[in-house]
Amino acid sequence: MSTATLEMPSKPTTRIDQTIAPAGVDRIVLTGFMGSGKTTVGALLAERLGWKFLDLDREIERRDGRSVPQIFRESGEAHFRRLETAALASLLGQRRLVLALGGGAPEELGNRLLLEQTPHTAVVYLSAPYATLLGRCTAQAADPEATARPVLADLAAAEARFHARRPHYERIASHSVETSRLEVEAAVEAVLGTLRG
Ligand code: S3P
Repeated sequence: MSTATLEMPSKPTTRIDQTIAPAGVDRIVLTGFMGSGKTTVGALLAERLGWKFLDLDREIERRDGRSVPQIFRESGEAHFRRLETAALASLLGQRRLVLALGGGAPEELGNRLLLEQTPHTAVVYLSAPYATLLGRCTAQAADPEATARPVLADLAAAEARFHARRPHYERIASHSVETSRLEVEAAVEAVLGTLRG
C-alpha cells in the first residue's frame, strides 16, 4: 500500500481504468493555492483515467523558454499573467485532459470566464488551510528539483493573496475536495468520487 502524502509523494502504483472517467466530463481542471496538490494529484488522476496531464506552469515555460521565476524576474508578474491566460485559452480545447492551474490563475477575470465558458469542464478546488499549504510549499522548496515560487518571497503578501483568492477558487469550482488530511491516492479517489456524484 502506498504511503504517499501530498508533501512527499512516493511512486504510486499505476492503474489505468478508463471506465472510471466521470460521465459528461471532457476535462478536469484542478485549482487551489500553491501547495494544494494540483500537480501531484493531477498527474496521478490522469494516469488513473488514461488521460493526458498538463501543468499550466510547465506549459508556459515550454512555450516561453524560460522558467516561471525567470519570467517573473525579467518580465514581471503582469507579463507572466498574460502568458498564463494565453496558455490556458489554448489548452482548454483539449479533451481527455487533466490540467493543473497555477495558484494565481483564478485571480484573472479572463481566466475565470474561460473556465466557465468551456463546456464539459469540471473545475475541482483542492483546499487546505493556509498553514498546511505553506508547510507543504516549504517542504517542497527543500527539493533542489522544485521550481521556486516567486509569490512566496513575501509571506505576508502571500497570505493576503490566499484570502483574496479563496472566494475565486470557490466560485469557479464545480466540485471541491479538502485535502489537508488526505494522502495523494486518497485525494485522487476523493476527486473521482465527487465528480461521479
Ligand atoms: C503562482 C503559483 C505557481 C505559479 C507562479 C505563481 C501564484 O503555481 O503559477 O509561481 O501566483 O500562486 P503553483 O500553484 O502550481 O505553485
